[in-house]
Amino acid sequence: MKAVILSGGSGQRLAPLTNTITKQLLPVANKPTLFHILDLIKEETPIKSICVVVSEEYGHKVKETLLNSEHAKYFEFDFVFQDKPLGLAHAVQITNMHMGEEQFLMFLGDILINKGELKAAYEQFIKNKPESLVLVKEVEDPRPYGIAEVTNGKVTKLVEKPQDPKSNLCLSGIYLFNPSIFYAIANIKPSYRGELEITDAVDFLIQQKNTVEYYIIKSWWFDVGTPENMLKGNEVLLNNISNTINSKLNNTVKIQGKVSIDQNVIIEDSEIVGPVIIAKNAHIKGCKIGPYVSLGESVTLKNTKVENSIIRENSRVKNFTRIISNSVLGKNVELALEDNTQAVSGNSKKVKVILGDDTKCTSL
Ligand code: DAU
Repeated sequence: MKAVILSGGSGQRLAPLTNTITKQLLPVANKPTLFHILDLIKEETPIKSICVVVSEEYGHKVKETLLNSEHAKYFEFDFVFQDKPLGLAHAVQITNMHMGEEQFLMFLGDILINKGELKAAYEQFIKNKPESLVLVKEVEDPRPYGIAEVTNGKVTKLVEKPQDPKSNLCLSGIYLFNPSIFYAIANIKPSYRGELEITDAVDFLIQQKNTVEYYIIKSWWFDVGTPENMLKGNEVLLNNISNTINSKLNNTVKIQGKVSIDQNVIIEDSEIVGPVIIAKNAHIKGCKIGPYVSLGESVTLKNTKVENSIIRENSRVKNFTRIISNSVLGKNVELALEDNTQAVSGNSKKVKVILGDDTKCTSL
């Protein structure tokens, strides 16, 4: 079996974070979503051959990142460039040559899911041999998603972003296919939004009397297409980190809960409330960090409080009066208050900021 990972698309709901990088490479718990997906595929399926669909805009960056990663030692990668985001089924269609006659896993590149679910779904697909299997998740409001209507253990209809959903089972963005899906895609037309929808292709299989099964995800699952969901993903991933401290810390640092601290990190006069992950070369002084904070490489924080946030590599925050909360800061961001007297000790209020790479902000 092979896999197709979709890493194209536009990522507009994550702007300005995606003005300089594609969303699938944005780090969550200090690792790009694509890497979390590859870890799962490696651990939970026998797949070793992966076709990655990438956009013209960011495709070369995705290719370079994957080929320079540890994953290139385990997986064999092919890259297919998609000119325009013409839909999920279009993205699958253009991998046809690479997939040949094999069954395959399709994984949207912006999905995070707990361990164990992919393995269970894969085993169901191999055991029952349906034409296709879709992983679904029960959600309160299914309208922003594709949905699966089901009866007696089988999918009877799929609808993309329904106004009036007849089911609360949303499509998770993970699918298992036989090569027959290519025939189905060749038989569908673009939807009202001008895209070739994979939901329509799977629906075509059902109309042709093929069996489509579903697997209900029991644990957590997120589409990291919005900052809020990125932060929810960050939270659940950090809950599972193991306590590792690879830097020498002095006794001016108070640590509670689980922390993962990489090499060469300097922390002075600060409190770290886990779960927190800190990448190498970070420098923290006079801060309260956590819970649920991911700090990228060479981040510098002085007199600052941060909770439930992601701060990417080389960003610097100094003398910030308010608690940075539910925030995502891109790379090389600079946030500093010119007036030092307002530093952390005062009555702090929370502030939420979403800042793209290279933003410089010296007063708010
Ligand atoms: O999150 C689950 C939902 O994902 C499903 O419930 C829907 O049925 C499915 O259509 C999809 O909806 P989204 O609106 O979230 O799709 P989005 O445009 O965000 O694209 C999902 C991924 O596929 C993302 O990593 C970008 C990539 N993509 C998307 C398009 C439209 C491509 O590689 N090429 C494309 O043409």
